[in-house]
Amino acid sequence: MSRAESEEQLRRFRRHWREHGFGLWAVEEKASGRLVGRIGLQYHRLWPTDPEVGWKLDPAVWGRGYATEGGRASIRHAFETLGVPRVVSIVHPDNAPSIAVMERLGLALAGRPWWTEGDLELLRYALERSRP
Ligand SMILES: CC(C)(COP(=O)(O)OP(=O)(O)OC[C@H]1O[C@@H](n2cnc3c(N)ncnc32)[C@H](O)[C@@H]1OP(=O)(O)O)[C@@H](O)C(=O)NCCC(=O)NCCS
Repeated sequence: MSRAESEEQLRRFRRHWREHGFGLWAVEEKASGRLVGRIGLQYHRLWPTDPEVGWKLDPAVWGRGYATEGGRASIRHAFETLGVPRVVSIVHPDNAPSIAVMERLGLALAGRPWWTEGDLELLRYALERSRP
């Protein structure tokens, strides 16, 4: 992304926090204190009904379980703090690493929203809050 695109994206992330009281978290690697990505909950425009859990990490830290750890914390936050009944995650069908994170977290395939700009079906995974 260009600097201008990054700034625009950050503005959108911050606006989501202001409007909904939750949003994406920065991922800091404990050992180094380095910012290595973002993970968290946001409403997705293709499925605005339930918060979407998502992740994006620096390729240098792939393969260490950070997305799974952060995704699990996000889902806990959604169910225990926000009290929502369901979390979703929307993914390109070719994104095997992201689908693997979803499946590790217990999400299951729940639908195939149409993505107009990409002219293809995406996959919507979902996890329901279990009743106490
Ligand atoms: C999607 C993305 C975050 C997945 O990263 P990842 O490193 O594969 O996922 P995790 O951080 O959960 O790590 C899982 C891997 O670490 C390994 N691992 C090591 N320690 C682990 C631990 N304590 N817990 C879980 N997994 C661990 C797992 O075995 C797995 O390895 P494998 O892929 O060889 O099976 C990454 O590919 C990415 O940032 N992609 C670009 C952005 C993107 O596509 N985002 C999603 C859009 S929908």
